[in-house]
Amino acid sequence: MAALSSSSSPSSFFFSTSSPHPKPTRFSTLVRMAYQENAPSLAVVGVTGAVGQEFLSVLSDRDFPYRSIKMLASKRSAGKHVRFHGEDHVVEELTADSFDGVDIALFSAGGSISKHFGPLAVHKGTIVVDNSSAFRMDGNVPLVIPEVNPEAMKGIKVGNGKGALIANPNCSTIICLMAVTPLHRHAKVLRMVVSTYQAASGAGAAAMEELVQQTREVLEGKPPTCNIFRDQYAFNLFSHNASVLSNGYNEEEMKLVKETRKIWSDANVKVTATCIRVPVMRAHAESINLQFENPLDENTAREILKNAPGVVIIDDRKANQFPTPLKVSNKDDIAVGRIRQDVSLDGNKGLDIFICGDQIRKGAALNAVQIAELLL
Ligand SMILES: NC(=O)c1ccc[n+]([C@@H]2O[C@H](COP(=O)([O-])OP(=O)(O)OC[C@H]3O[C@@H](n4cnc5c(N)ncnc54)[C@H](OP(=O)(O)O)[C@@H]3O)[C@@H](O)[C@H]2O)c1
Repeated sequence: MAALSSSSSPSSFFFSTSSPHPKPTRFSTLVRMAYQENAPSLAVVGVTGAVGQEFLSVLSDRDFPYRSIKMLASKRSAGKHVRFHGEDHVVEELTADSFDGVDIALFSAGGSISKHFGPLAVHKGTIVVDNSSAFRMDGNVPLVIPEVNPEAMKGIKVGNGKGALIANPNCSTIICLMAVTPLHRHAKVLRMVVSTYQAASGAGAAAMEELVQQTREVLEGKPPTCNIFRDQYAFNLFSHNASVLSNGYNEEEMKLVKETRKIWSDANVKVTATCIRVPVMRAHAESINLQFENPLDENTAREILKNAPGVVIIDDRKANQFPTPLKVSNKDDIAVGRIRQDVSLDGNKGLDIFICGDQIRKGAALNAVQIAELLL
């Protein structure tokens, strides 16, 4: 069983203190630091939320360089304190003036906030990395997983005074494509069938609290309080809470279909998905069936995945040990297991895999911070 890392490559950057324009280089004689006078100024929008808190933890873990950081949330949170790099920072209310002098803003406050404030920030010269679905399918906005399609954000850089929007894909899409893209590059995926088992954390901090509260209530024989989800969540599972569309798919499922095509620049790849919310606190699981154009045997697939960045294999058939949400919680890497030939397809043209990934981390905050690292 491979050990999961809590920080995947590219690892923390190192910056020369003598250079007026810090250049990300790695290792060697340079000084490791996060605060720097000539580093970018940052803003975290939605800092009090599940993803916002994870942004701070990932920025800190990776020693992301910054000269200033604004902590932004709703009026409700203005005046609260959040900890970052061992210091208290006061949360400010997000307003149209929040982005004056901000180089990079990491957004995770919901689609309507992104739609309103994202373009305002870009107008002020800020590069916005947005976690919501607001701009993902906009033809002018790159949709980026750094390990998969960094070329999509070519030309967008901090320091030229030009604002821009970059979208973070949906968490289920990121986790799925981290594992599937290396296989796709080798044998070309023709069709992908995804079934998800999605955690409470994917629906934000309040949903996590609801799962805890309901579990307590049910164990105490009380009726469970349902504020976030319509169905009882504790000791139950249900179809994903996203709106159901006229074709019968819900929005979460169609994100997997559309975003995969955009990220792979392949309008023809066939994708279908069923998304289920399960009573797990943190980290999503996905069962994925793949049909390839070219043969791919399971041993070759294992070799490919072994060498894939941000992916680890947990696939011990003898001990019946495979990925679980708990094994990947608070970890950067996506775990892949149950790697097996699809017996329903001839000629090694199909594979089944089971994957788990921490969707607040790689599915949201880490991916966005990795995008910000590319901007430097
Ligand atoms: N959770 C995940 O795994 C995940 C993964 C990928 C993408 N996302 C996306 O990330 C976004 C946030 O998700 P989350 O799970 O972190 O939700 P969350 O825990 O509910 O946090 C929401 C954040 O948005 C802020 N906010 C709400 N209304 C605001 C307003 N009017 N002005 C400024 N800030 C406001 C909240 O501030 P207050 O505390 O002041 O209300 C809070 O900081 C959503 O778009 C979600 O789809 C989430």
